[in-house]
Amino acid sequence: MTTKIAITGKGGTGKTALAALLIRHIVRTDMDHVLLAVDADSDTNLPEALGETVEMTVGDIRETAIEGLPPDADKMQVLESKIYEVLIEKPRYDLLVMGRPDGPGCYCYANNLLRGIMDKVTENYDIVVIDTAAGMEHLSRRIIRNLDYLLVVTDGSRKGLSTAERIRDLVGELDLGFKQIYVVLNKVTPANRDSLTKHASELGFAIAGTIPFDTMLAEYDLEGLALVDLPDESEAVVETGRIAELIGV
Ligand SMILES: Nc1ncnc2c1ncn2[C@@H]1O[C@H](COP(=O)(O)OP(=O)(O)OP(=O)(O)O)[C@@H](O)[C@H]1O
Ligand SMILES: [Mg+2]
Repeated sequence: MTTKIAITGKGGTGKTALAALLIRHIVRTDMDHVLLAVDADSDTNLPEALGETVEMTVGDIRETAIEGLPPDADKMQVLESKIYEVLIEKPRYDLLVMGRPDGPGCYCYANNLLRGIMDKVTENYDIVVIDTAAGMEHLSRRIIRNLDYLLVVTDGSRKGLSTAERIRDLVGELDLGFKQIYVVLNKVTPANRDSLTKHASELGFAIAGTIPFDTMLAEYDLEGLALVDLPDESEAVVETGRIAELIGV
């Protein structure tokens, strides 16, 4: 069985940082499970947080792979083999970058194929961690289905919490079938910890964790260092470890 975890929330709240630190935790503590990291944000920030560079994305090959094929060609098989070509294989995890979003044309056909392929690809892994773009479009497009955990990241802003609420409502309406939706409070300071926790609880969220504002993380980000290389004593690393344990990864 594959455990699929998607990370969502308002722009800039720390989705990519949380994804990178969850991946860091899994690769350092769990030698038995195979992990797939998916960057589903067309802005493609996860590779940098993981210290990786990426040349080709799924978006680059999505249409070209199936263009001009003879009518009887197995388009799904062709696209699937191309996906494996853009998959980055690291010793402890694989990384798949979805890349550019749908353009003005209709990508429905390619996306329908992609859904079936992603079902097959993700079956090869025990754990899949998906960093998503801000906003909710990716949830409604459902390229990756049957997700288990949704981690909605918010900072201490009203907008962050409102987005979290909207996401929760949309997830309910679309019947996306998550086992559990959690909110993760991020960049929390001693000054806003209590009020943020109170607001999140009043909105009925189950809180997976409270990640402090971590000056070391901010420094790594500023210097362009990979967040996966943060030391064990980083406060964000410690709290992400607790979140990972809560969701059993
Ligand atoms: N716990 C934290 N402590 C300090 N800084 C943080 C923390 N979490 C995230 N940041 C900083 O906040 C900024 C946004 O983080 P990040 O890129 O992870 O957010 P995001 O939600 O993925 O953004 P986007 O919506 O653009 O994808 C970055 O500069 C990052 O270094
Ligand atoms: Mg991001």
